[in-house]
Amino acid sequence: MSELLKRKRILSGIQPTGTPTLGNYLGALRNWALLQNSYDCLYMVADLHALTVRQVPADLRRNSRALTALLLAVGIDPKEHILFVQSHVPAHCELSWILACNTQFGELSRMTQFKDKSAKHPDNVNGGLFTYPVLMASDILIYNADLVPVGQDQTQHLELARDIAGRFNNIYGETFVLPEGYVPAAGAKVMSLSEPTKKMSKSDPNVNSFILMTDDKDTIVRKFKRAVTDSDGMVHFDTANKPGVSNLMTIYAAFTGKTMPEIEAEFAGKGYGDFKMAVAETTVDAICPVQEELQRIQADKAYVDGVLKDGAERAARLANRTVSKVHRKVGLLQLEK
Ligand code: TYM
Repeated sequence: MSELLKRKRILSGIQPTGTPTLGNYLGALRNWALLQNSYDCLYMVADLHALTVRQVPADLRRNSRALTALLLAVGIDPKEHILFVQSHVPAHCELSWILACNTQFGELSRMTQFKDKSAKHPDNVNGGLFTYPVLMASDILIYNADLVPVGQDQTQHLELARDIAGRFNNIYGETFVLPEGYVPAAGAKVMSLSEPTKKMSKSDPNVNSFILMTDDKDTIVRKFKRAVTDSDGMVHFDTANKPGVSNLMTIYAAFTGKTMPEIEAEFAGKGYGDFKMAVAETTVDAICPVQEELQRIQADKAYVDGVLKDGAERAARLANRTVSKVHRKVGLLQLEK
């Protein structure tokens, strides 16, 4: 009976490479919080992934703690669920090696994010950047996660994780759960406000291209006012011909739950000025309460570190069990305890 009632499991992660954007929030973090009611969740600060791009050590350390505080502020419940830092659970790297031995060079060469990031950092196309999707597969498979809430840019990595799991199961017998993605209907790919054919990204050198989760009300309003649109003045959803307006409509839809025809009707005959203000206001209404909570949590470093310590212990217990099983399956010698 208790097996029947067992809830399905979620794992997801985010890199501590600066303050998350509205894209991170709508594509992932907001759903992380919502899904807690129906799943057992493990949420992870993916600091090892961040090392694939050169980091300033002090910044990385600070960002890992700040990101944990933000995850708590968006509503992650560390008692009911598990919140931890990836490097605090070394089993992820152990499993990653074994999975890498079951992943083909050709599969990794096809990853679009590898191609994009190699083009962006031609002076540092390191091995970690190439094998990153294997570590991500390990993060997911080590907990036998059923569901992985992510934005659209991570779906190819998730597909690979499924392929690796399926192959491993075929060779060594049923071991891993094949994970499913959870990609939101609105907000899976929030675009840049200044170049709306590009993904919104915190690493964009143009600060007007993104909304940060810590931007204050005036900054949010200013950035939306400056957002690139077009000259025909119609609030109409058409990603090919009106990428800027369509992106703003997507953000509005994600916050209000309204459909595109409803939004078109709401702003029919009104200019972009009114529309942009409405988008800014729904964003402010959602983000500003998170910021107040963030300030409160950030003031209590001991609490944040306590959450991470507890999270690492609980995550490691689950992860070590999987690694031990995998060692046995692949034939690594295990001695009696
Ligand atoms: P990261 O840190 O780049 O992004 C965290 C989450 O935010 C989503 N996201 C977006 N969604 C919509 N619009 C955008 N503009 C946007 N930008 C980012 C991402 O899709 C992601 O869900 N490899 C992962 C971290 C990771 C992970 C994992 C995720 C490591 N291990 C295991 C899931 C499962 C990453 O770099 O996300």
